[in-house]
Amino acid sequence: MQNPILIGFMGAGKTTVGNALAKVLDQPFCDLDDAIEEYLGQSIPSYFEEKGEAAFRQVEKELLAKHLSTDNVLATGGGTACQKANQALLIADQRPVVWLLASDDTTLQNLSGEDWDKRPILADKTDEDLAKLKASRKRFYQDTADIIVQVDQKNPETIAEEIIDKI
Ligand code: S3P
Repeated sequence: MQNPILIGFMGAGKTTVGNALAKVLDQPFCDLDDAIEEYLGQSIPSYFEEKGEAAFRQVEKELLAKHLSTDNVLATGGGTACQKANQALLIADQRPVVWLLASDDTTLQNLSGEDWDKRPILADKTDEDLAKLKASRKRFYQDTADIIVQVDQKNPETIAEEIIDKI
């Protein structure tokens, strides 16, 4: 079985599900956002503030390429699959790409409070803006994924089992 790559909007649970999946599969796990922060030596929000989104996307692209060359269960960031160059890399990869699909309600629930604040892309955004951004990214996830898993009202372990059943 090949190790899956998780994509999907912020708040879909890519990190938690990726961890659960790696545990069940007994495989190493890599969270791309964590790898980026480790590489930068600073948090993503502070890098966004200092250098802006374009600089972040450049680092994200380089680290995605690097981590696609290692055989981990990989959780991407919410915007990773929505950059054309990244999308091409993900489609070309042999591993199953899994889209964790959450409803707007689940997304809002999962992104409340601190979880909203640590996402620089959501700074000064309203719930409506979030729904619009989510809708505008849908086609990227759709066109990149081999498998779609609905995550609403499921715990990470159940989602992990569902992914394993489908790959
Ligand atoms: C982003 C999502 C974040 C992180 C960065 C940008 C986005 O990852 O990569 O803040 O553009 O959607 P999560 O999906 O893990 O929050």
